Order: sequence, then structure tokens, then C-alpha cells
Amino acid sequence: MDTGEEELILPKAPATEKTRQQSKAELLSQLYNRIKGCRRCPLGATRTNLVFGAGNPNASIMFIGEAPGYEEDRTGVPFVGRAGKLLDRILAAMSLSREDVYIANILKCRPPSNRDPLQQEVAKCLPYLEQQIEIIAPDIICCLGRISALYLLRLKLPMKLMRGNIYRWKGSIPAIVTYHPAALLRNPALKRPLWEDMQKVMRILKEGT
Ligand code: URA
Ligand code: URA
Repeated sequence: MDTGEEELILPKAPATEKTRQQSKAELLSQLYNRIKGCRRCPLGATRTNLVFGAGNPNASIMFIGEAPGYEEDRTGVPFVGRAGKLLDRILAAMSLSREDVYIANILKCRPPSNRDPLQQEVAKCLPYLEQQIEIIAPDIICCLGRISALYLLRLKLPMKLMRGNIYRWKGSIPAIVTYHPAALLRNPALKRPLWEDMQKVMRILKEGT
């Protein structure tokens, strides 16, 4: 007997923009839950909070800094100290806010006295950031400072030579390098070149590469 039941078996609806967006947030939250207790390097024992990253899982721009400092370790949020306040102003000048972009660091835990990350710390931690980039799949990555360029793009050049070029993260996602906001706090003359770099970022977002 034909019960008509078959007619109720509908093909799966294609993922809507909304469900795709939710899934990036879900994937990030699953990754966070997997790594929040991380002890892969000794910084796990000295941190107050792991600083995972913050912002919009569907962002088209990712900003990648160096490592959490005192305020970031205290709050678990990236770029909330003095350099972070400056980053907020830079975003505002681009008509963006933290809710439009995604911000993370090469290291998720604070190195003692804010020393440079060690290679063995980066080796343990970078795969987490790489997974975040793969989930978010931004249209452009903006490396803030030399440590970010060194470990994300394997570039060991003076900032003057890195700036202005468009690199490709893993051969695909466009990436640029600019000064770290903390460098601008020490040297306000760097504001203009940084602003030129941000205009380039906006041009790439608008026109593609
Ligand atoms: N400097 C960084 O590189 N990252 C932060 O999160 C804060 C300061
Ligand atoms: N806009 C400026 O004028 N200066 C900056 O440093 C950033 C944005």
C-alpha cells in the first residue's frame, strides 16, 4: 500500500549562508574547547588565561599579532592593552570594529616579561592558529609586526622590505605585513606607513588580488 511516506523524504536543503556562518563559529568553539587546557609548552603552566582569539568567525580580515601581554593574559582577550587600544583606533579609521574582524596571535599564552616567543613554543602553538585561519578562511591576513611575519609567512626581512608586498599564506590567502601597533606607540612617525598599508588592505578587499 502506498502510504505516501516517501514523499516526506525531502532532499537535504543546501546549506544556507546562515548555517555556514554558524558552522564556522561552532568549529572555532570546538577548537577552543579542545585546546583551552593546553600544556604543550611550559607557558601553559604560567598563564592566567589562554588567549584564543576574538572577533567575527566570518571575518574577511584577520589581524595576527605576536603573543598576549599582561592585560591579555589577565582577560583572555587579544589586544586589550595599550597597543590594542591603538588597534581599535586603526580599525575605526577603516570604518571597522572588532566585531567585523578576527584578531589572534602567534602564541596563545603570555611569555614571561613579554619576551619574544621561542621557536619551540611557536612549533607547539602555531598549528592552533593555522586551524583558526583554515576555519575562518579570510580574504586577507594582516601580520602585525616582524614576529607575526616570521612565523606565519616565514619572512625574515626588515619591515621596510616586507611592507607593500602581497604574500600568500600557504600559497593561497593574500597576506600583508605592517608595523605592530606597539611600534607606533614608540614611534609615531610609523603611523603614516601603517595607514598606507591599511588602505592597501581595504583596496585588496574591495577589488581582490
Ligand atoms: N601585542 C600582541 O602582539 N598581541 C596582543 O594580543 C597584545 C599585544
Ligand atoms: N589612521 C590614521 O590616520 N593613522 C593611523 O595610525 C591609523 C589610521
